[in-house]
Amino acid sequence: MALARCFDVEDVRRLAKRRLPKGLFNFIDRATEDDLARDRNRAAFRALTFLPRTLVDVAERSTECVLFGRRHAMPLAVAPAGPAGLLWYRGELALAKAAARANLPFTLSTYSTVAMADVAATGATVWQQLYFWSDRSLTDAIVDRARDLDFRVLVVTVDTPVLGQREYLRRDRLLPPYGPSLASCVEMLGHPRWLAGVALRYLATGGLPRVVNRPPPASGLGAEEIARRTSLCPSVTWDDIARLRQRWPHKLLLKGIMREEEAGRAFALGCDGVVVSNHGGRNLDGAASTLGALPRIVAAAGGSGSVLVDGGIRRGSDIAKALALGAGAVLAGSAPLYGVAAAGEAGASHVLGLLQAELDRTMALTGSRTIGELTRDLLGPGQTEDCHGA
Ligand SMILES: Cc1cc2nc3c(=O)[nH]c(=O)nc-3n(C[C@H](O)[C@H](O)[C@H](O)COP(=O)(O)O)c2cc1C
Repeated sequence: MALARCFDVEDVRRLAKRRLPKGLFNFIDRATEDDLARDRNRAAFRALTFLPRTLVDVAERSTECVLFGRRHAMPLAVAPAGPAGLLWYRGELALAKAAARANLPFTLSTYSTVAMADVAATGATVWQQLYFWSDRSLTDAIVDRARDLDFRVLVVTVDTPVLGQREYLRRDRLLPPYGPSLASCVEMLGHPRWLAGVALRYLATGGLPRVVNRPPPASGLGAEEIARRTSLCPSVTWDDIARLRQRWPHKLLLKGIMREEEAGRAFALGCDGVVVSNHGGRNLDGAASTLGALPRIVAAAGGSGSVLVDGGIRRGSDIAKALALGAGAVLAGSAPLYGVAAAGEAGASHVLGLLQAELDRTMALTGSRTIGELTRDLLGPGQTEDCHGA
C-alpha cells in the first residue's frame, strides 16, 4: 500500500506496521500494561455524538486559529514523542518540517535525538517539552537554550515521575535486558527498507541516535552517579514549577493535568495553559480518559488560561469534539508518528493533511464556519458531563 492509497490515519498506521520491525511498531502503537487507558481515550471520542446545525451557509469556512499569539492552520500541535528518530532517519526533523509546511506547532521532546538548533532551523513554530532530570542544572540548561533559540512555548510534562510499566518493550529488548535476540534480528532483516534507510544509515553516518540535547553532567563522575543525575526526577513538585515560572519568560504549559484543582493551581502560579493528558495512556493504565476529565477542567479554568487536550486523536472529527467540549486545541502524538514511520516527512504531512481535511468536513457537516462555532450545543444534552468513558 502506498501513501497515496492511505485514506485515513488507520491506513497510515497499517503502512507504518508493515514498514517497522515489530518492537518499534509496538513502541508507538501500544501504551502501558493492558492498554486500558489508551483504549479508554479512544472510546470516549467514539461515544460522543453531534447534533448538527442545518441550513447554515458553510460555503466559506476556515479551520484557522490563534495559539499563543501565532496564527495556525488549525487548533492542533504535534505532541512531543521521543522515538521519532528511531522510526525514520532524523525523524524529528521530518516531523518538524511537516508541521512547518502545515503551519502547525511542533513540540520537541526532551528526549529528542536531533539538536534543538537543527529543529529551529526548519522554520517550524517549536514548542519545547521538558522533563525534570534529577540533576536540575541539566533541566535548566534546556530551558535556557530554548529561550536563546527564541522558542516561545515550554510544555512541562508532569505526569511521569517514573515511566509506565511497558512489558512489551522488555519483551522486544527495547528496555533492559537490552541486546538483539534471534527474533529481533529476524524482524530487522524482514524489514529491509527500515534496516537500510534508518539503522544502517545511522551506522554509516556516526552511530545510532541518542539523546542529544541533555548536557553531560559534571565531569569526573562515576557511571552510577551519571545514571542517577540523568534519570527522570520522581520528586518534582509545585515548587519546581514556581521556580521555572521565574526562569522562563514566555508561555508555560503543564502537560498531564487530569484534576481541576491542579489546573486552578497552575493558573494561579502564572502558567498560561494546561494540557489535559494521560500521556496517551502510556503511564497509568487506570487513568481516566482525557475527554472525560476535560469538561470539569475547562469549567475550573473559567477562561483564566488555555486548556488543551490530547490522547486518542485519530480523526478530524475528534478535534471538533474536543473543541466542542471546551478545549482550545489538541495535541496529536501517535497519528503523526504513524505518518513519519510510514514515509518520513511526506507521511507526517499526509496525516496532518488528512486531519485538517476531516476537521474542515466535520465543520461543514455541523454547520460551523469557524473554529469558534464548534460549541457545546453541538454535542447535545447529557454529553458535556464528565461521563465519557472516564
Ligand atoms: C511513542 C511515543 C513517545 C512519547 N514521548 C513523549 C515524550 O517524550 N514526552 C512527552 O511529554 N510525551 C510523550 N508522549 C506522549 C505524547 O506527547 C502525547 O501525550 C500522546 O501521544 C497523546 O496520545 P495519542 O498518541 O493518542 O495522540 C509520547 C507518545 C508516544 C506515542
